[in-house]
Formats: sequence, structure tokens, C-alpha cells
Amino acid sequence: MHSSHQYAGNSLVLGIETSCDETAAAVVADGRDVRANVIASQVATHALYGGVVPEIASREHLRQIAPVVREALLRADTTLDDICAVAVTEGPGLAGALFVGIAYAKALAFAANKPLIAVNHLEGHIHSALMAAEETTAAAATLALVVSGGHTHLYLAEDGDAGWRYKNVGRTVDDAAGEAFDKAAKMLGLGYPGGPWISSLAEHGNPRAVPFSFTQVKTKGRGRGGSDGANDFLFSFSGIKTAVARYLELHDMVASSEKRRRAIADNPNMTPEQMLSLCNAQALGLAASFQHAVVEDLVRKTLRAVERFHTRRLLVTGGVAANLQLRKRFSQEAAARGLSLSFPAAGLSTDNAAMIAAAAWPKFLTGNFAAPELTAQPSLKL
Ligand code: KG4
Ligand code: ZN
Repeated sequence: MHSSHQYAGNSLVLGIETSCDETAAAVVADGRDVRANVIASQVATHALYGGVVPEIASREHLRQIAPVVREALLRADTTLDDICAVAVTEGPGLAGALFVGIAYAKALAFAANKPLIAVNHLEGHIHSALMAAEETTAAAATLALVVSGGHTHLYLAEDGDAGWRYKNVGRTVDDAAGEAFDKAAKMLGLGYPGGPWISSLAEHGNPRAVPFSFTQVKTKGRGRGGSDGANDFLFSFSGIKTAVARYLELHDMVASSEKRRRAIADNPNMTPEQMLSLCNAQALGLAASFQHAVVEDLVRKTLRAVERFHTRRLLVTGGVAANLQLRKRFSQEAAARGLSLSFPAAGLSTDNAAMIAAAAWPKFLTGNFAAPELTAQPSLKL
């Protein structure tokens, strides 16, 4: 249906991402060069409820999708006629939120007679780190850690003739790492999402103040077997969440957390600096120790997987990959091992549409287009 002449010299893909609480559109050339990256965040709206409210997310996407796409094309100085494909997140994510992006992308592709490409959100995250990787390392055996609010997964990634292939070799058995950051922050009375709050306050705390033992973030005797190694790298973050709750109770920190929660409810635009004045050394120590424990667990298990699978290249991506301490620790360990390491560029760790357009590019080249009956896949696996 879509002849290859549409590709003549034109490598611009329009990406659309609406899987959770960001309405995003981007234009990317050659799967690498970000020409425009527009994100309308709903964070402020959902922050009032302390988490993403699915119905509100869908409604906000509906409101934002058209202006966000228009803005992306405008900033890229291009038009729908001049792009070669429309790419959209198929899943995983919130059904209603995904529907908005898919319906809009389908309509655009149909109206402009461009191919439509479906992208797995997790594959998108992997490509946000690949975009930043040196092209010279392209053939290296690759391990990817995806750490976000909804996911903590390890994948072996391979660039084959038919496009990228992924093998899941690790996952969380309960909460995702970002979810743990969000829950710990909520218990401490900090803002939503919690990752950025914990991370900025942790700078001022002693990471060894609370000795969260690694058994609390370790798996509970599961995942022994699996000759393919698929079950060997299991994460668990619900234990440390419980440990934070217990610590707060045992050390009479519940009231001061509640005070912070009220302060931020009264002033949703509070800065981390202002929040700092509402935190004593004990609260800062808890934030720093929590971050330390989670980061060290992610680093340790991921490096074990690097050794196990003899990968020469590591990608660390997803919202939690914005964490500076995580980046620092992975960088130190990778340097010590001569391992090639890439993180997403600034602003591309958390959800965005540039990663969707980037992941779509190899699919465009291999003619891997979406069927007309493409629909939302809330539990899509990679
Ligand atoms: O990738 P993302 O935007 O959405 C999902 O696909 O889930 O990730 C959002 C998650 C949230 O849990 C947020 O708290 C976390 O990423 N996050 C961070 C940081 N920035 C965002 N976690 C730790 N440190 C950060 N600096
Ligand atoms: Zn994401």
C-alpha cells in the first residue's frame, strides 16, 4: 500500500506518545536527530490526587493532542506532507490514554496517506538511550535496563536484519523502581512524582543513615532456575517501601511528614529548596538512604547480568534513569569495566515521543507497518 518512493530523501518520523500522563509529539530524522520534542505534562493536574487518575489522563490527552502535534510540526519546521511515517505508542499503558494517541495517529496517517507504525513504549525507552549511544558500538551485544514508574526490566537487545529483537532477562516481581520512589516520597510527604523530590533532597542527606539491608530489595528465593537465564534477574521493591513506612512510625516522623504534605498541598509550586527547610537531618537521611539502597540494587543486579550475558554495551533508560546518583554509580562501574554505557539525553529519560519516533525508524526501513485495526494494548509485553 505504501510504496517506497515516499522515503526518497525524507527520513522524518512524527512520533506520538500518550500512554500515561504526558501528551507528547516529536519529529525525529533518521531515528537519531531530534528536530522537535513537545511534551504537555499533566503532572500538576494529577499531583492533586497524588498519582495518575486514568479518566483525567484520557480527557487531558484529548484536549492536548491536536495542539501538541501541531506544535511539534511547527518547531521542526515541517508539515504532515513532508514526514515519511506516523508512529504511535501501542502499549503498555492506560487503555483510555493509549486510545487517544492511537485514534489520532490513525486519523493523521489516513488523511495524509502515510504509513502508521506501532511502537511498544518499552522499546521506545530503549531507543531513547540508543539515540545517545555511539554508532561505533552498534554491533556490540547489548543489555538494556528500563527503570520507570511502571517498569523495571532487563532486556538483551539485538539489531537483526528484520529489525530490533529483545529478550526479557529480568524484571521486578512487585513494584517498579520508580513506583518505589513515588511511594517513599508520598510517605515522606513530598510531591508527586516522587523521584525528582527524593533525588534532590537526598543530596543533603547521609546515604548511610538508615542501613536498609539489601535483603529488603532482594528477591525472596524465587528465580533460581531457568536455563535461559530469564528468571535469574528479579528485582523487588515492595520490601523497602514497607521498611520506609516502619522507619517513619518507629522514629515519630509521621507528623512531620504530614506537615510537609499539607505545606505542598497549600503551595503546589514549592521548590525543592523550600522543601529542604521542612526536612530535618533524619528525613534527609531517610531519603538519601532509600535512594542509595535502590540505586545499589539496580547497579549490582544489572552488572551481574552484564557479566552473565557477556554484553559489551549497557543502556540505562526510563524515568528513573534521570536520577543523578544512578547515573554516577553506573558510570563509575562501567568505566572500571571498560563497558560502553549510554543514558538518554537530557529530557528524554522520562516519557516523550522522540523515543517513539526513534524506535519506529528501523521498522520504517523494514516496512513493518501497523495493521488498520491497530488498537490499544494496555498490557503489551516486550
Ligand atoms: O518513564 P516515565 O516517565 O514513565 C513511565 O513509563 O513509568 O517514568 C516516571 C518515573 C516516576 O516514577 C518518577 O518518580 C521517576 O520516573 N523519576 C525519577 C527521577 N525522575 C523521574 N526517579 C528517580 N530519580 C529521578 N530524578
Ligand atoms: Zn515510560
